[in-house]
Amino acid sequence: FKVDWDMEQAEKNGYDHFMLKEIFEQPTALQNTMTGRIDQDSQMVEFPELDWSEAKVNEWNKIYIVACGTAYHAGLIGKHVLEELTRIPVAVEVASEFRYRRPIIDEQTLVITVSQSGETADTLAALRQSQKMGAEVVGITNVVGSSIAREADNVILTMAGPEIAVASTKAYTTQVLSLYLMGVYAAQKKGQITEEYRKELLESLLKTPGQIEESLEHIKGIRWYAESIKDAQSVFFLGRGLDHAVALEGSLKLKEISYIHSEAYAAGELKHGTLALIEEGTPVIALATQNEVYDKMIANIEEVRARGAKVMGVTTEGNMDIYHYVDETCYIPATNNLFAPLLSVVPLQLISYYTSLALGNDVDKPRNLAKSVTVE
Ligand code: G6P
Repeated sequence: FKVDWDMEQAEKNGYDHFMLKEIFEQPTALQNTMTGRIDQDSQMVEFPELDWSEAKVNEWNKIYIVACGTAYHAGLIGKHVLEELTRIPVAVEVASEFRYRRPIIDEQTLVITVSQSGETADTLAALRQSQKMGAEVVGITNVVGSSIAREADNVILTMAGPEIAVASTKAYTTQVLSLYLMGVYAAQKKGQITEEYRKELLESLLKTPGQIEESLEHIKGIRWYAESIKDAQSVFFLGRGLDHAVALEGSLKLKEISYIHSEAYAAGELKHGTLALIEEGTPVIALATQNEVYDKMIANIEEVRARGAKVMGVTTEGNMDIYHYVDETCYIPATNNLFAPLLSVVPLQLISYYTSLALGNDVDKPRNLAKSVTVE
């Protein structure tokens, strides 16, 4: 018997790789992460696992989000959302930097550590240091009984299920969702969100698993696009605001498993350096899902195209305007601007998957990387 092989095939459930399986599991993972946390009758977020009194939430004057890798990128979305909904300033830091300086933390600081495995050495050290300095720590993790789950003052479990592929997909989207829910919850406690806005947000959020499911039906074009960039020397990801945070994650995913050099840039920063690297035929993936900065984004797309870039625009369904400015278009379903990252990251995950596949790489186990880094 070749038991191991059979077991692995069975676990992949018909998919060629764990990564693809995990990308397709995102609708269910998100659904499971929402279950029990949005009360359908009152349309309010409920977090029985967080012992946050109104007084406590009102005491916090600063939030740190500390994490590594993909979890750090989820934190960047969290910053945007928490600041928007609570008006408390939020700093996001890479755990290995945070732990070796003297961060300004006290009893009025909330620290959120984000870690799929709950075992990343630097993130765990940051958690311990924050607690020592008097901060309350919430751990967002996917693993029950992990070190972070055991040591954090409060824990939010992402219900992604086991993630095997080294490149994180469903853990990332459930981390982002947890931060959204936490943002609405904190705003509820602070009395800082109108009932109307809260309902509007939660209605949109509840739709996202179905929307991802729907968009996963149209992956043919993405595969074709991925194959077309496989020989590129360098791929650039551009975006503004939340789109910039997604660009960073899309670029990391591509680097991790295709080994193609890639950079993600805040589109407005481009002219301060990176624009010099755009040449004839350079693939640029430009995210344009955020209404307030859409025109600015188009101006940046024109800048790179003038230098010969081939641009793939990622935007919301119904936006016909983008046709005038890009070479390819990838549509995501329409949603509240705040939640676009949940939908726009999915095609980027698929681009990295199919590029890696086209190059014949070991998609699930990229060279030199580990799923969980428990040593410094
Ligand atoms: C490793 C993995 C990454 C992951 C990071 C943080 O570098 O390869 O995919 O994002 O660790 O892991 P964590 O378990 O703390 O989320």
